[in-house]
Amino acid sequence: MTSWWHGGIGYEIYPRSFADSNNDGIGDINGIKGRLPYLSWLGIDAIWIAPFYESPGLDHGYDVSDYRAINPIHGTLADFDELIADAHARDIRVIVDIVPNHSSSEHRWFQQALQGRDNPYRDYYLWRDPAPDGGPPNNWVSHFGGPAWTLDEASGQYYCHLFLPEQPDLNWSNPALREEFDDILRFWCDRGADGFRIDVAHGLVKDAQFRDNPQRVPIQDPGNPTEVFGAFEHLYDMDQDGTVDVYRRWNRVVEPYEAVLIGESNPRSLDRVARYVRGDSLHTVFYLEPGWMHWKPADLLEKLEAVHRSTDTGISWVIDNHDNSRSATRFGGGDVGRGRSLAVMTFMMALGGFPFLWEGQELGLADAEVDAGNLEDPIATRNEHGVGRDATRTVMPWDSSHANGFSESAEPWLPSALRGPAETVAVQRDDRSSWLSKHRDLIKVRRTHPDLWGATPQWLETPPGAVRALRRGSMLALANWKPDRFAIDLPPGVWTIVYHSASTDTGDVSGTFDMAPESTYLMVAST
Ligand code: NOJ
Ligand code: CA
Repeated sequence: MTSWWHGGIGYEIYPRSFADSNNDGIGDINGIKGRLPYLSWLGIDAIWIAPFYESPGLDHGYDVSDYRAINPIHGTLADFDELIADAHARDIRVIVDIVPNHSSSEHRWFQQALQGRDNPYRDYYLWRDPAPDGGPPNNWVSHFGGPAWTLDEASGQYYCHLFLPEQPDLNWSNPALREEFDDILRFWCDRGADGFRIDVAHGLVKDAQFRDNPQRVPIQDPGNPTEVFGAFEHLYDMDQDGTVDVYRRWNRVVEPYEAVLIGESNPRSLDRVARYVRGDSLHTVFYLEPGWMHWKPADLLEKLEAVHRSTDTGISWVIDNHDNSRSATRFGGGDVGRGRSLAVMTFMMALGGFPFLWEGQELGLADAEVDAGNLEDPIATRNEHGVGRDATRTVMPWDSSHANGFSESAEPWLPSALRGPAETVAVQRDDRSSWLSKHRDLIKVRRTHPDLWGATPQWLETPPGAVRALRRGSMLALANWKPDRFAIDLPPGVWTIVYHSASTDTGDVSGTFDMAPESTYLMVAST
């Protein structure tokens, strides 16, 4: 059966930063609603909205204190209902972000759990006795710095948290917790949500014996939590085999609603990515590595091919999201970085699955400068050398008015220097050669040539390195991400260029084709 998301393109919205409708400096649901005409013009099929639930906001919404309530800073359930209705009227689906690995410590379940070992909610979380020396029960570390365990002095036990101490991990071996989440999924589906982006989808189940993770490399800088986390092989805290069973169950829950399940997955190795989408479990998973890699084109293409070969429809391809430096910056900055970013996105459009753009990626936005005193991300504010995620999270530049049109007169929650006119939607929208126009054209090409994502994929032979050719029925995707031109032998016949990431070249070609550097071509067989 073909589902609505096959061939679709999603767009990630960080609600705090997208559009502020009531002028308090924080983006909100009504702000998103007001920008639906733009999203519809852009041509995307679905929006994924990062968490807007009730939350103390210590991880900006990824610390949920009520999974069924909207944080008043973002609006109300009535606003959400209206957003869904307006989006659906424009053929835009709405995907909400579900955070099942952990709740906020202010969630009533955790507040109950703190009441003592006999409380019925105690077992909603992961509690262990101290190690013999009184320290944490094992060597697991938090993504956000320090051990993954905090001592509850009242009970003398530690609780597990793979992120902040204020984000206690939930216990997925508890059947009662599984039922709670079935109901939460139904709650949002009943309100019209079209799917879920699942936060830390690979993290839910933990090793039953809570074994130590092996350390791979020595730690140079204990003040940098990303380095510390990466120094361990995450054999026991993440990506456990049993996690997929949770999604088999979720698949049955959402099936009657035709809702899509998209996991944020960061498994231990590439060959484990597809496990999450085999059979009746998740529909797609984000393959996250391209979202933090720097410009290593041969390496990147090798990984894309390997992951694509393991599943053709199961990946949500991304190079940008709210957790990493923007690709235009990571890939070299300026127009060079922007061009590389578009070359990668263009190739991803031929890889099947359900790709996503991150707000502002379509404008070729680079990372913003945020003054040290304005930093908001706990990775930066709670660690000596943590590299935070604020530079990608600044407000969307709509125009050149106050706060780039994000808010009428309020100071944005995350202040940064104004973006220049050339970086705004207002200016790029009317310029046929802008990054925005190039992204919009690309979306259109994918829509008008369903073979590009739907026909059987066939990787053609190419020399090792930063060149790839992928044929799908009538379509051909050619990547030359080398710094020089490259002459490639086309399959027999005449091919019409329908899109080139680095120019407006069109026309018919055949035989040996001389590809421009650091760019991707999409071609259709001429009949
Ligand atoms: C992944 C989310 O994308 C990130 O923003 C968040 O901090 C962590 N999960 C923890 O929920
Ligand atoms: Ca607001």
